[in-house]
Amino acid sequence: MNNKKIVIAGGTGFIGQALAAFFGRNNEIVILGRHLSGKKLLTAVDGYRIQYLRWDGLRVEKSWAQAIDGCDMVINLAGKSVNCRYTPKNKQAIFDSRTDSTRALGLAIRDAVTPPKVWINAASATIYRHAEDHPQDEYTGEFEDDFSVQVCKKWEETFEQQRAPFTRKIALRIAITLGNGGVFTPYLRLLKFGLSGRQGNGRQMYSWVHIDDLCRAIKWIYERNRLEGVYNVCSPHPLSNKEFMRTLRKASGHRIGLPAFTWMLKLGAWLIGTETELILKSRWVLPTKLQDAGFIFRYTEAEDAIRSVLEKIPRRKYHLF
Ligand SMILES: NC(=O)c1ccc[n+]([C@@H]2O[C@H](COP(=O)([O-])OP(=O)(O)OC[C@H]3O[C@@H](n4cnc5c(N)ncnc54)[C@H](OP(=O)(O)O)[C@@H]3O)[C@@H](O)[C@H]2O)c1
Repeated sequence: MNNKKIVIAGGTGFIGQALAAFFGRNNEIVILGRHLSGKKLLTAVDGYRIQYLRWDGLRVEKSWAQAIDGCDMVINLAGKSVNCRYTPKNKQAIFDSRTDSTRALGLAIRDAVTPPKVWINAASATIYRHAEDHPQDEYTGEFEDDFSVQVCKKWEETFEQQRAPFTRKIALRIAITLGNGGVFTPYLRLLKFGLSGRQGNGRQMYSWVHIDDLCRAIKWIYERNRLEGVYNVCSPHPLSNKEFMRTLRKASGHRIGLPAFTWMLKLGAWLIGTETELILKSRWVLPTKLQDAGFIFRYTEAEDAIRSVLEKIPRRKYHLF
């Protein structure tokens, strides 16, 4: 893929910067963000064709709407992190940041003289119910009505409601993404302090995707005109939390990792201002539609994925000595 113009809303975070690195040498990248200073962001100095524009994720403004007009692909990743206490205020912000940004992009695309060819909106594999019995996919997956599922449903509904007849729309139900950032940041700390044992009873399933495969899937979908709708993006081989933590220890050279019982997780989550659901929910998801369409994952086994992430991280970050 060369010389395309790609606008990434919410592109200042973990996935956005990885996409900018993936596409940004051969394509023109425009990142929309609210906070553009005080963050370590890729720039043209690093050899990327990249530009940052400020938006509020809420209202259409000419400054960024102009970038959407005539571009090839819009990718929307904007959303308040779910890694926080689910207070009423935070819950509202988690909802609003996703639906407001989706609506604002929808309006800009509707009013564009030359609408983008493709609009990819982030969604989440958390949309499926807590599943310990069998895996969930796009065809037969079931939903529950807890808070995170409601967020995911509303997010996808809002995306679906945006009228963009000349733009191919794809919602990506992304699984926990393994790369240098995101969930790996707390994992490095757990490894370092010998706390990388199973979490809770360890039987909850863990669906994941390597960041390179997420970037590759986006490129692959862009290049296939017939693809639209909802796609799960997760490795075809999810594993249990216990197996995942064991693999993490093996790949990082740690022999011991103390388990975290549910009560410890509850206390810990309260102390660091987050929710145990992020760890204890059983996410058992398969990428049926992507595989049916012919996509081949490069990282299907968690061990290979973890090793490839750790290769880029200095050892001192996950070892005490
Ligand atoms: N990482 C994963 O494992 C994973 C898995 C499934 C789904 N997802 C979804 O994929 C998207 C990107 O994930 P990520 O890991 O890159 O997240 P991230 O690092 O937290 O980045 C998200 C970006 O959203 C923007 N944002 C935050 N609050 C906002 C608000 N109130 N209004 C508008 N924009 C806001 C932020 O940019 P500014 O502050 O510059 O505006 C931030 O850089 C998220 O929506 C996430 O829910 C991620």
